[in-house]
Formats: sequence, C-alpha cells, structure tokens
Amino acid sequence: MNTQDYIAMENELGAHNYHPLDVVVEKAEGAWVYDVEGKKYLDCLAAYSAVNQGHCHPKIYEVFVEQAKHVTLTSRAFRNNKLPMLYKKLNEMTGYEMSLPMNSGAEAVETAVKLARRWGYDVKGIEADKAEIIVATGNFHGRTSTIVGFSDDPSSFAGFGPYCHEAFPMHEYGNIEDLKSKITKNTAAILVEPIQGEGGIVIPPDGYLKAIATICKENNILFICDEIQSGLGRSGKLFAHYYEDVRPDIVIIGKALSGGFYPVSGVLADKHIMLVIKPGEHGSTFGGNPLAAAVAVKALEVLEEEDLVNRSFELGNYFVEKLKAIDCPKIKGVRGRGLWIGFILDRKARPYCEILMGEGILCKDTHENIIRFAPPLVITKEEIDWAVERIAKVIKEND
Ligand SMILES: Cc1ncc(COP(=O)(O)O)c(C=O)c1O
Repeated sequence: MNTQDYIAMENELGAHNYHPLDVVVEKAEGAWVYDVEGKKYLDCLAAYSAVNQGHCHPKIYEVFVEQAKHVTLTSRAFRNNKLPMLYKKLNEMTGYEMSLPMNSGAEAVETAVKLARRWGYDVKGIEADKAEIIVATGNFHGRTSTIVGFSDDPSSFAGFGPYCHEAFPMHEYGNIEDLKSKITKNTAAILVEPIQGEGGIVIPPDGYLKAIATICKENNILFICDEIQSGLGRSGKLFAHYYEDVRPDIVIIGKALSGGFYPVSGVLADKHIMLVIKPGEHGSTFGGNPLAAAVAVKALEVLEEEDLVNRSFELGNYFVEKLKAIDCPKIKGVRGRGLWIGFILDRKARPYCEILMGEGILCKDTHENIIRFAPPLVITKEEIDWAVERIAKVIKEND
C-alpha cells in the first residue's frame, strides 16, 4: 500500500475529527520521521510536545519492553512495584509532596477540577455545588464535555452543549484586573496555562502568573497551572511557571511524561490538597499502571540525563533568532520560549505547512495564521539551520 491507499482507507473508515497533513508515517527516530515511501522529514511538532525526548528513545524503549515482559496492568485494585517509583521521581523532580496518575491530559485536567472543587467544599467551605473555577480566554485544556464547556473556541464547544458556564467564569488571559472582577466567595481555583500552546504560543505579560499567585493566596483560592504542553522542558524550563518564580497549588502534567510511548498524565499537589480525595472517589483502570509508571520514570530520567531542559532553552533562543533574521514582509512576528515557537504570518498558515512538508519539514498551523515549531528537544543546531534555510525559502517564494 502507498500513501494514497492509506489515506483513502482512513478517510473511508475512520472518523473525520482531525485534518492531518497527508503524510503517512511509518517509523521515527530522534527528531526525524519517515513516511511509507521512505521519505524523511524533520518533525517540528513532536506530537504536540509528547516526544520531547525524541521519537523511540532507545532507553525508554528498553524499559518499555522490559516492563512489558513482567506486568503491564494490575488496575489500582492491587498495588504494583513501579508506581511508588514514579511518585518518588515526581516528588524529587518537582518538589510536590504527592501526585495522582491518569492517562490522557484531559483526564488530568478533569482530575484537577474535581480536586479543586472538593477542596473548595471540604476546606474552604463553599456551599454545596456552587464552586467556581476561573478560566482564561483562548484556553485549551482538552476535549471532554466539561472541558470544552469552558472553551471560547467554537470549534471546540459548538454543538456539544449544554454547559454549566457559571461553574467556569472566564477572564481575559493576561488581564489581572479582569481576573479580579471574576472572583466571588465561591471561587475555588484559577486555572491557566502558563503559556497558551494551542492558542498560538501566547506568552502572558510579565508578572501575570505572579499576580495570580498573590491573588490566590490573599483570597484562599487554589492556583492551578496546566503544564501538559508547556511542561517538562518544552518552554526551556522544567515548567513554564518557573519563568515567574511561582509555585502553583496544583500542576497538571501529561504528554512528555511518557516520552510518547504511552498515555501518561498526572496531577501534582501537596498533601493538604491531594488528600481531600478519599479512596473510591476518583480513578481510572489504566491510571498508574506499572507499564506507564516504569516508562514515565525513564522518560523523566532521560530529560535529566540528556540535559534536555537547558538544551531547549539554548536551542530555542537560537531557533527564534534565526527565524527573526528571515527578511520577509509576510512574517508578522516570531515569539517563543524554549523550543516552542509561534511563527506569525500575515496570511493563512496551512498552505505553508503543506509546502514545508514537501521540503521535508513537518509542522502545524494554529489559529489560522500561526505556524508552531516545536521539535523534539534532541534536535541539533545543524538540523535547526537546515530547517530555517527551507522555511525562509518556502515563505519567500510562495504567495
Ligand atoms: C495545555 C493542554 N491541556 C490539556 C491538553 C489535553 O491533553 P490530551 O490531548 O492528552 O487529552 C492539551 C493537549 O494539547 C494541552 O495542550
């Protein structure tokens, strides 16, 4: 079968809930993927930052295979000998006292929502079923029906209601005065992405996260940071909220937590928050399974062993400067932190992503006119040079 055969089969038999580029990937290694015809592409999306460690990382692969020989799933009805190791690793790396493992990012966000509401009722004393969680314009926290109910993007929420808007008041991302105006006695938490990824790599004004942390402290409100895409090195720090030297009460992680081998997500918090959820009140059959836990520990170790967070910071700066140096009026701006870059055009970005694919670079448009460049953190300087040369040519030569 060739590319066209696979696409035809997929279009005929699979739900049309995505609009992928027409490349059919068969294998991958490091920062590169190969299609079914053997053509090679530099991956500048890294599975939405799930493969920060690079595709098919050999050390994670080794652990994945080894663990699969022993035991993959026990459910949480029984204990396993890998989950405590993941708890320990997360505790040591992040400083949070406890973690709660789930699978997809959206499930982890749901977990944080439940945790904050329960804390609101049990600790803060909010009247039953009145807890509010303030969210931000332009947010993206996943695709479950509760989460899309607090999105302001019609392609996420339209046609999937009804929703409970009073449970999730929305403030303008980056606007502290607007945020303050949304606080009531029922506010249990404020939930934000420290940098909005799906929103187009939107970096909030300096001091925004710090102001949220202060407001939360003053008003007995939990500060929840969704670091599912921004975290684990993508932004050039372990967590993007480190740029403002704050410590959210709850941090949500996912994606690169498994280096792309397996869906692993989780919520980090200290005991006085985490322990408001009691046995039997929350869980998931696959959450915290030994295969997931073993893979996640190794994926985190690889970030440290290969110094990928600092690499993201340094190479991110290099990539941004190289992109900024492209002289072309179609480019309206370049912004980014670490290897997480929004390349803003004065026109639709999708056609350029398609042409770049022809040149051997895979990337993704977001919000119509922005191309996101977010390669695996193992990318080299030479590979960035190679990519920028092609990006410049494609932007300049095509209308
Ligand atoms: C900030 C953020 N939160 C949550 C999610 C949802 O994660 P998942 O697709 O694993 O459910 C994403 C996915 O892109 C994300 O970027």
